[in-house]
Amino acid sequence: MSTSTAELGDLTVNRIGFGAMRLTGNVAFGAGVPADRDRSITVLRRAVELGVDHIDTAAFYFSPRLSANELINRALSPYPDDLVIATKVWPARDPSGAWWWATPEQLRGQVEENLRQLGRDHLDVVNLRIPPSRRGGSIAEHFGALAGLRDAGLIRHLGVSNATAEQLAEARAIAPVVCVQNPFGIGATAGERELLHRCGELGIAFVPFFAIAGAGREAGATSEEHPEVLAVARAHGASAAQVRLAWTLQQGDHVLAIPGTGNPRHLEENVAAGGLRLSGDEMARLNLGISP
Ligand SMILES: NC(=O)c1ccc[n+]([C@@H]2O[C@H](COP(=O)([O-])OP(=O)(O)OC[C@H]3O[C@@H](n4cnc5c(N)ncnc54)[C@H](OP(=O)(O)O)[C@@H]3O)[C@@H](O)[C@H]2O)c1
Repeated sequence: MSTSTAELGDLTVNRIGFGAMRLTGNVAFGAGVPADRDRSITVLRRAVELGVDHIDTAAFYFSPRLSANELINRALSPYPDDLVIATKVWPARDPSGAWWWATPEQLRGQVEENLRQLGRDHLDVVNLRIPPSRRGGSIAEHFGALAGLRDAGLIRHLGVSNATAEQLAEARAIAPVVCVQNPFGIGATAGERELLHRCGELGIAFVPFFAIAGAGREAGATSEEHPEVLAVARAHGASAAQVRLAWTLQQGDHVLAIPGTGNPRHLEENVAAGGLRLSGDEMARLNLGISP
């Protein structure tokens, strides 16, 4: 892997990681087609062969026949010593797939569910994934409960996801935060960029999702690509997805990518994007649609 490393607390990982949400097919989120078990296992094993040592997952990444955590367990355990698995709690889905949100007391059960499915005795990183209904509200009760599970040894490091700057500050007053996992990519707003840079100043990793999918979000990458992205891609003999990943990584040494794919060819491309360097001029050309 031709990319550098960054820190997640006291853990060092390659800056190109892997997001497991696409392994089960996108049916869980109302779009796409079911994934194939063997293909998803192949993608996970190949990712590790290529040097990926940071995988993002969640117990709520499941479709009728596949669970991301169980695929990770099946494909990769016994786990390599240096593999960091990050998961997230607060949202959940019942067996029928319907969403619900945990109370602070229910977070322990969610952590234990991840432990069981992954076959681990502690979780490396757990992100508190903040619901849209709490956007801007207090997260102290939930984060405090998670900090208690960290003190109890079930979790090594804590992060926050879909967080505002104020929520990050609130969490940091309770316990150390090693990462912020928020949507970010070409087209990010000024506010999103400010939080990314604030994380760098604080020595916190910034882990963007939707760096490739962008406005397509859960539905995935759109076939319509911006002409500037295509032009930069052509100049490097690269794909648009690679340019999007490279642009995001070049926002700061503390940025860690977790591109999600169930496609072995896309996986190879995404890992190779770690070696793609964009010039200052290209970075500026790709500052598209900055809005406050
Ligand atoms: N904390 C949160 O709230 C949150 C929310 C969403 C996601 N996440 C995490 O972040 C990870 C990344 O997000 P994401 O998977 O939604 O979005 P993403 O990485 O931005 O993009 C994934 C989409 O792009 C496609 N893709 C991937 N590599 C490609 C390539 N080289 N060329 C063309 N298309 C490519 C994928 O389809 P194919 O499968 O066909 O390649 C999929 O549709 C997730 O896997 C998940 O672990 C966290």
